[in-house]
Amino acid sequence: MEIIVCKDYDKMSKAAAAEVAMVVREKPDAVLGLATGSSPIGLYAELIRLHKEEGLDFSQVRTFNLDEYIGLPPEHEQSYRQFMNEKLFDDINIRKKNTHLPDGMAKNVRAFCAEYESMIEACGGIDVQVLGIGSDGHIGFNEPGSSLASRTRVKTLTEQTINDNSRFFAKKEDVPIYAITMGIGTIMEAERIVLVAAGKNKAGTVAAAFEGPVSCMCTASALQLHPDSIIFIDEAAASGLKMRDYYDWVQSNKAKAPK
Ligand code: F6R
Repeated sequence: MEIIVCKDYDKMSKAAAAEVAMVVREKPDAVLGLATGSSPIGLYAELIRLHKEEGLDFSQVRTFNLDEYIGLPPEHEQSYRQFMNEKLFDDINIRKKNTHLPDGMAKNVRAFCAEYESMIEACGGIDVQVLGIGSDGHIGFNEPGSSLASRTRVKTLTEQTINDNSRFFAKKEDVPIYAITMGIGTIMEAERIVLVAAGKNKAGTVAAAFEGPVSCMCTASALQLHPDSIIFIDEAAASGLKMRDYYDWVQSNKAKAPK
């Protein structure tokens, strides 16, 4: 697990986008795992810039999003499908048919979740998974208490997550309380993980997740067991870390490190 502290949100977003772009350049038909929420918006903006200004090619890229609210059709303005179209897909040369999100309107949710897992597997698995982290330590919508071996399934959102996400809705009551989410077990199978977190309100969560015990009470802590995860955070989100100086030391000596 590598923790990279960046000066601000913009630098964090660019550094994280560079990791994703590297995967796409190396493997033009890469499978990207994607997240919604405020954290990766800058990362997506940078991928759009790399596409428009440097020709980063998404024509063969496949994507799978982590989660979707149950009960919101794809055309709903707060659906994660709309978010992805607006923040990324509409501005790059990706084929929409290659972009996948859980179906929040699925009639048989259990069957859909199994199918989603099969689709990821049929594509050869996720090459790089983008993540944010919720204030209760969730990744995807794997709320505290989620099995660290869980697969794609329905989760009931915590009150904290409903409160956090109510900023995107007209009123709190409009926030769906159920979502389909990839499980921690699903996420952990990605070849590489790129997590972004910014802001003072994430500082305690980041410290608990990456310097605390591995626990289902903070599901992001499972990333401690992933062999190739990079945690990009800004100064504010890094402010609760005990080993902060060491992380900077590692980065400043990285170029000279034996390969
Ligand atoms: C959304 C997702 C969530 C968010 C998390 C943080 O697809 O996977 O885990 O990453 O709730 O949200 P923001 O970035 O809005 O603080």
